[in-house]
Amino acid sequence: MTKKTIKDIELKSKKVLVRVDFNLPLDENGGILDDSRIKAALPTIKYLLDQQAAVILCSHLGRPDGKVVEELRMAPIAQRLSELIGKPVQTVKDCVGEEVSRKARSLAQGQILMLENLRFHAEEEENDPDFARALAGLADIYVDDAFGTAHRAHASTAGVARYLPAVAGFLMEKEINTLGAILANPQHPFAAVLGGAKVSDKLGLIANILDKVDALLIGGGMAATFLKVKGINTGSSPVETDKLELTASMVKEIEKKNITLLLPVDVIVASAIEKTDKGSGVSIDAIPADKHIADIGPATAALFTGELEKARTVFWNGPMGVFEIPQFSNGTKQMVNAMAAGNKVTVVGGGSTAEIVGEMGMVTSMTHVSTGGGASLKFMEGKTLPGVDVLLDK
Ligand code: 3PG
Repeated sequence: MTKKTIKDIELKSKKVLVRVDFNLPLDENGGILDDSRIKAALPTIKYLLDQQAAVILCSHLGRPDGKVVEELRMAPIAQRLSELIGKPVQTVKDCVGEEVSRKARSLAQGQILMLENLRFHAEEEENDPDFARALAGLADIYVDDAFGTAHRAHASTAGVARYLPAVAGFLMEKEINTLGAILANPQHPFAAVLGGAKVSDKLGLIANILDKVDALLIGGGMAATFLKVKGINTGSSPVETDKLELTASMVKEIEKKNITLLLPVDVIVASAIEKTDKGSGVSIDAIPADKHIADIGPATAALFTGELEKARTVFWNGPMGVFEIPQFSNGTKQMVNAMAAGNKVTVVGGGSTAEIVGEMGMVTSMTHVSTGGGASLKFMEGKTLPGVDVLLDK
């Protein structure tokens, strides 16, 4: 990475403001469903403590839209961090203001303070300079370890770097290096497995990897738009009609470049995406007019698995079906197993794809599971991430 990291800066006795992405999935009672983003930030936090810094953590949680939402307070997350790191984590009822400044001033080396949810203030997402200055005023150094939020130009991810020396944490470094390596120098054959609901979310990514990739495997809801372009009757599956032209020219480009393009050859269809709808398997040319695609079928899963057996690098973003509903989750699960098999570089884009890998207990079977959903997509599109851009160059 061309940006400075916490290894490049003197940390002893410094107050360090660390932007983490502890935007964790919560259940209806506010319980933490997945703490992998906390675990992923531990190496940075531990290193800062070892270097005798005082650590001030800040994050957003959910989308409270500039208001205090009791269910989105950071306290339970501070508690979980405390359990994982084996040290007390102090909390405070805000992220700026007199009480926060007092707490930050009295924070000693080796201690941790977690600020309250940044998005309780509208100024955070507005990237308000005064708000950014107030956050910066709490510390001597700014560390950005929030890869998952690096695609947002907010006060705590971008604005604050105007007022403090700004460097990357280890998680940020690892994400940029790993994703950067598969873009810059993938081992071939390089396959990308793309799914998820919308083709519009993935066209930028496809365009950016067209010169690097050997095979594109398309599943999920977005496959319907590709299938439509190929003249397939997709029943009542949502098709992004405003993206048909763009998808068609993308398909032409893919074929011109001799990239293997694999689309579903069979699918599981349903009348309604509901737990009670059992779904049924059909060949791709037999989708009933009143049914829509809910998953890839077994023949498609076998076809995709065969292609992945040949690959030496695989990037995967987006489920193959409605994986939240068990009877529509098989295609996605088979892709997890196909990724894990053999000896290849496997990188999983974050968001729901990472969640599935986590739920199946397969994180350690992948080379890298990104902590960023939107951020990893933007990065793979070749876009500059504001949260990375503002950091000091090496
Ligand atoms: C994420 O979970 O993708 C990040 O924390 C960003 O959250 P946001 O989409 O609410 O900005």
